[in-house]
Amino acid sequence: MTNANAISSVNIKLENIKKTYNGKAAVDNVSLEVKPGEMVSLLGPSGCGKTTTLRAVAGFEIPDSGRVSIGDQDVTKVPAEQRRVGMVFQSYALFPNLSVAGNIAFGLRVAGWEASKLNARVSELLEVVGLNGFDRRSVLTLSGGQRQRVALARALAPNPRVLLLDEPLSALDAKIRAELRTELRRLQLDLGITTLLVTHDQEEAMSMSDRVVVMNQGRIEQLGTPRDLYATPASPFVAAFVGAMNLMPAEALGNSGFRVSGQTVNIPNLENKTGRLGVRPEVIDLKPLEAGQSAAIQGVIELVTYLGADQQVILKVGGDTWVARVENDQVFGRGQKVSLEIPQNAWLWLPA
Ligand SMILES: Nc1ncnc2c1ncn2[C@@H]1O[C@H](COP(=O)(O)OP(=O)(O)OP(=O)(O)O)[C@@H](O)[C@H]1O
Ligand SMILES: [Mg+2]
Repeated sequence: MTNANAISSVNIKLENIKKTYNGKAAVDNVSLEVKPGEMVSLLGPSGCGKTTTLRAVAGFEIPDSGRVSIGDQDVTKVPAEQRRVGMVFQSYALFPNLSVAGNIAFGLRVAGWEASKLNARVSELLEVVGLNGFDRRSVLTLSGGQRQRVALARALAPNPRVLLLDEPLSALDAKIRAELRTELRRLQLDLGITTLLVTHDQEEAMSMSDRVVVMNQGRIEQLGTPRDLYATPASPFVAAFVGAMNLMPAEALGNSGFRVSGQTVNIPNLENKTGRLGVRPEVIDLKPLEAGQSAAIQGVIELVTYLGADQQVILKVGGDTWVARVENDQVFGRGQKVSLEIPQNAWLWLPA
């Protein structure tokens, strides 16, 4: 995909959005602002209210209360077709009886674009999404990845003010998904178009967005840059949903001691309160223990999985199961006793 004419970016603002179905809140008091030119992801498990939130921005859903604005214009009650938003769904939702060009031109025809301008715009979009020469092809003959490029071109053609993407890559296979992820992000940055992306895939959210909104049961759990969410998750839910985390109940012993997984650890930089301690698998180093040797934190290896770039090691520590990610050249065996070496500043304290 290559650059297309950059557009003037506007913000999206949600203020105290609530939407209830059958007495149950699908979206519960959500407020957030996507700044001009920013790409923000709504990330969370199935049913947490991501699509409902996005549909409130698109105008397919009127919230029970709260306000939606686009470019400082209150659009809460403005019909979808007047909001000038571009939308792409998981199901390509292309018109099967139209060619690639026909699909891309659809919104332009509806808006009454004159033929020469329309054709120029379609050519431009074919170039943008890397489908030069595909204009006459039936969309039924395209691969999933190509169909999603057409859907994106169709959404962008009428110069929408903002782009709304609901799981646009979820139906594609892993390799194409990773490719399109990069292309889509590059295009979004080139165009400078304000974008709200819905996904349940944390890697997708992290890799594509300036900021990520983690949602759970209709509410925002945390909003931050991918780095913030990973380094300082605000809750056990975020800690476990964004990346992998060993998350264990920990009892404060006073001074800087904690009892966790049957071990006593000293962590001076953390508040000494009972709660949960979290450790990312990749910060753990494993050192073999000889018979009779002991260590501050020790475990027994249950399973080693070679992943190419590194290895995943599952261990029993006290009665708990821990996961470590270690370099791919270390050789470990099942039942082997190891010391878990964890830098003091790598521990996270989370509420119970
Ligand atoms: N039209 C509707 N009628 C009744 N309930 C609905 C409707 N739309 C959504 N819901 C409910 O609202 C909640 C949130 O749904 P939503 O589609 O926003 O979730 P989501 O986060 O997009 O999930 P998924 O990842 O599965 O797409 C769910 O419990 C869902 O069943
Ligand atoms: Mg959804």
